[in-house]
Parts: sequence; structure tokens; C-alpha cells
Amino acid sequence: MSETTTERLEVPFTIDGASYTALKGETVLEAALRNGYFIPHYCWHPSLSIAGNCRMCLVHTKPGPPKPQIACNTVVSEGMEVDASSEKTLTAREGILEFLLANHPLDCPICDQAGECDLQQYSFDHGRTTSKFSEIKTQRPRHDLGPRIRFNGNRCILCTRCVRFCDEVTGTGELTVVNRSDSAWIDVFPGVPLDNPLSGCTADLCPVGALLDSDWIHTTRVWLLRGTKSVCSGCATGCNVNVEAFDDSVKRMTPRENQPVNKWWMCDEGRDSHREATTDSRLNVARLDGQPVKHQDALEAALDLFSATPAAKIAYLTTGHATCEELHLLETITDGPGGVNYRPDGGAFETLDGFKLSADKNPNRAGVVAVLGDVDAGERVRKGIESGQIELVVVCDSQPGGANWDEGLVEALKGDVKAIVISLEDTWLAQTKQVAFPGLHAIEKDGTFVNQNGRLQRVRAAVSAPGDTRGELDVLQELGRSAGHFPRVLSAGGVFRRLAAASPDAFGGLTYRGLGAVGLPLAGAADQTPADKCQTYYNAGPVSRETRAQDEQTRVAVHRESPLGYGTVRGNV
Ligand code: SF4
Ligand code: SF4
Ligand code: FES
Repeated sequence: MSETTTERLEVPFTIDGASYTALKGETVLEAALRNGYFIPHYCWHPSLSIAGNCRMCLVHTKPGPPKPQIACNTVVSEGMEVDASSEKTLTAREGILEFLLANHPLDCPICDQAGECDLQQYSFDHGRTTSKFSEIKTQRPRHDLGPRIRFNGNRCILCTRCVRFCDEVTGTGELTVVNRSDSAWIDVFPGVPLDNPLSGCTADLCPVGALLDSDWIHTTRVWLLRGTKSVCSGCATGCNVNVEAFDDSVKRMTPRENQPVNKWWMCDEGRDSHREATTDSRLNVARLDGQPVKHQDALEAALDLFSATPAAKIAYLTTGHATCEELHLLETITDGPGGVNYRPDGGAFETLDGFKLSADKNPNRAGVVAVLGDVDAGERVRKGIESGQIELVVVCDSQPGGANWDEGLVEALKGDVKAIVISLEDTWLAQTKQVAFPGLHAIEKDGTFVNQNGRLQRVRAAVSAPGDTRGELDVLQELGRSAGHFPRVLSAGGVFRRLAAASPDAFGGLTYRGLGAVGLPLAGAADQTPADKCQTYYNAGPVSRETRAQDEQTRVAVHRESPLGYGTVRGNV
């Protein structure tokens, strides 16, 4: 019998008298969680080896010894009776919590983990109301383990998740346990700071407030955050993330589980990528001949320019940061050639469990190929401008830092050719060409990206854009409407519907809403994992970290009133 067949064999057992089945070889904890029965635990995590050191998962089993067993390291046997909530089991867990709390400070009021802390949660569920401990609590160090991770030793419960993560996932091994007993703490080896590309994941994995992302310390109480399920735009991996915001400002980005894409992880660079939306170099006002103007004035000028130019004389330029919907609109409203600029490669990293931080820093390079096919870096556009065949260029540049166009193309663009620019940054093009509109960062817009393995995923607007920014979809559809391409301005979902109809080979059969939280593969994609196999439903963070993100939350906002008397709906509709 093959191993796979053996693993699939089901083993009947009971928890507190209720019947369940375990897969052969599964532990009591794994089988219980898979069946929706929660047994508290700290040190166990599905991505890590079993340490069995926190003892929070104690249960009694029959057959088994009279003393309690740890559910995370007890394999289910046929007919096993698990007692997970009798008085003697709960008393055992109370004892464990009493030990864990013996040296733990009463930090909850100022601890950043408060509200998503497993120690806080289990104390509420299983703890004693009084403590017999009257001795002076031990003091353990509080220091930075690396550039982004702060260690508060007094809060550590020595579950060693962080140590095993660095040993078994990143393979960088920076962390270890020093000393013994209640004098033990987590530390780095001398001269080796915790500075691997995924170091922020140690703070996610820490079930208490002992490891904190220094970027997040004392920023916002977690219960005030509003999460949006989106995708990181830092590279072609397309990690699934919760963009967590308070007061319309992103406070942190944390990973969401998607096994074929990012498992439970995200890189530190991606965590910081939301900062690209708040740089001083951002364009946040429309411009007419370089001068700031109201959006409406710029739009009227753009419409005049656009309608006065034959479609065959209009080219487009864009980047690997444009969404599939923006690419589709650009291709629809222009008949001239197009060009795409990509961000240069950056650092890559692969974990021992197969998570890949891509060297390709363009979140939608595969989407460009799927929507536009073979497009060069702007060579044909340059030739068109130089030969006089192209009179107007629509530039859609949402690349942080601005696109780095080839020298020859820059020279051509500096000439008499006209341009309508939609730009995230206040680039020289936005400052010097006829009309410019501010563009949106990925944390501010709705749409889709195709990741490096061909998975089509949704980015969702988590916060508003600065100033009077309307964004790419609005402006491009306004231009297209003036040329009779569309009867009205659609949401990202509406544009996706048009895209799926126009490109059935790649997008046929897919619906915007059907992409859900984990996306779906394009036809012929390397990653063909169906949505129901993408998640184990075990979060990267502590088990008490409720995901505050709603999959299909609707953020309908009438963004403006156009002179023609219609509003643009923005959000997941
Ligand atoms: S710092 Fe956190 S993750 Fe690391 S051992 Fe302590 S409690 Fe566990
Ligand atoms: S690996 Fe890429 S997509 Fe994932 S968090 Fe990092 S930058 Fe973002
Ligand atoms: S989860 Fe079982 S001993 Fe820690």
C-alpha cells in the first residue's frame, strides 16, 4: 500500500464522547483542530516540528497512562477516547497556566499583543482567578534581537516557535534559548542579529507579546484595526495579506495563509511596502501643463486631447504594477503600440519549506503577458513618436519610484508628442506633459494581479488615496467613454467582466467575486491549486488573532459626481 493511501486511512476516535475520525498518523491536536474541536496550545504550529514544551494541550486518553498527555505529540489510535474537558483535564491545564503566569508581568494594559494574545485568551478560558505565587518575579532582558524585532523577556513563555522558525523555515538559525529554567530567555548568537528576510514572521508566530515588530509597537490597539484581505504588491510572489488600518491609515500588513502562494508567511520588505503610498514624492493633485488644477479641469483638457486624436495615433505606456483591469482599458482605448516598463530584479530568498520571495519586483508581470501578450519596453512607441505616427501617449505609471523608461524613449517623450499621464509619483512626465492625474497605490485600489505562478488574485482598497485622487480606472474609462468604448464607468469587477469576455483563453470562466480570498489559477498556470486546498485555516499569528478582514466586504463609496451626472462606485461590487 502506498504511503499516500496509508495516510488517507481514517481512524475512528472520540473526544469527550463525540465521534470523530483522524487520518492515520495524525496527532490528537491535529485531528481535533481539523474536526473543529479546539484544544488550547502554544508551542505547536503546523509549519514547525513538535517541541511539546508548553504543555498547554494536555488531555487524558484511553488507552493511555493515568497522567495527562500532550495532544500535540500523541498519535490517535483506533477507538481512542480523548478526554479534553473533564474536571481533571481542566485542572491540569489550570496548573500549567499557573506556572506560565508565575513570572509573567501584568502587562496587558500596555502590551501590543493585548487583544490577540493566546496567554490572555487561555487565562480567560482556563486560568485560575487567584495566584498562589507571592515570590518576586524573575526579570529577563528586554532588547532588540534585530533591526525590526524587539524581545520582551518577561513576557516569553519559552514555546520556542521563534527558534524553530529560524532553524526550520528560514534556515538562518539566529535564535536560541540561553540559560535554564526560569532564568532562560531567547537570544541571538553573538554578532548575529535576527535579520533574515522573513524576520517579521517571528513576531507573528509568537503567541504572546514577547516578540514585537518594532514598527508596530505602541501604534494602535489591535481591536481598532480594520483589516482588508488583499495581496502584497512588493514582488511577483503575490503574498496574501491583511492590510490592517486605523483612521484610514495602514498600521501594519500581516500574512494570510495561502499554501501554494505564500504558505503562512510574508517577507519584511513586503510588510513595509505600504509606505510607498505615503512618500513625499507622491503626486496628489491633477496638473495641467505642470500647474496644479482641479481634477475636473484636468479631465476636460484630457478629454479634448483624447477626442482630437485618432485612436491609431494614440499609444500607451505602463508598468508591471498596473492591474489587469487597467491594462485591459489601456489596450481598449488606444489603437497605437504599447510599451511596458518593469522594475529591475531585487533580492530573492527561498525558505526550507518552499516559500519563495521573488527576485521579480513586479506584482503583475504575468498579468501583462495574459492581458497584452508580447509587449516591448517602449521601443515601438519610441519609433512611432519619432516617425510622427504617434501624436498622443497615455501613460499609466503606478510603479513606486516611477517607471525607468529607456533613454531613447525619454528623449522622444521630451519632444512635441502630447501625453496624458496617470502617475503614482510626481514624475518629470507628470510635471512637464499636458495633463497629469494622481494614480493609486495597490493598498488604495481594487483590481487583479497575476502572480509568478499564474494565480489570479484580487487586490482590495484598504485605505483612501490622498487628495483628490480618482485613480486609473476612473480616468481611463472617462477617456474611453468619450470615444464611445463604454456606456458608463464601471467598478473593477465590471471591468474584469469585460476583460474575461475579451480574453476568454486566459480569463474565460473566471468571475471577479469567484476569486474570493485566495484567487484562482489562469488556464495553463503552473499553480493549479483549487481554492479549497489553499488553506489549512490555521493563521500565521497567535490562534487568538481573529482575522479582522472580511472577504467580501463592500466598500461602496460614491467617489464623485461627474459633470455628466453619474457617480463612480468604488469597492467590491
Ligand atoms: S519569544 Fe515568543 S515565540 Fe519565542 S519562545 Fe518566547 S513566547 Fe515563544
Ligand atoms: S515575498 Fe513578495 S509578495 Fe510576498 S510579502 Fe515579500 S514582497 Fe510581498
Ligand atoms: S502545544 Fe502541545 S505541548 Fe505545546
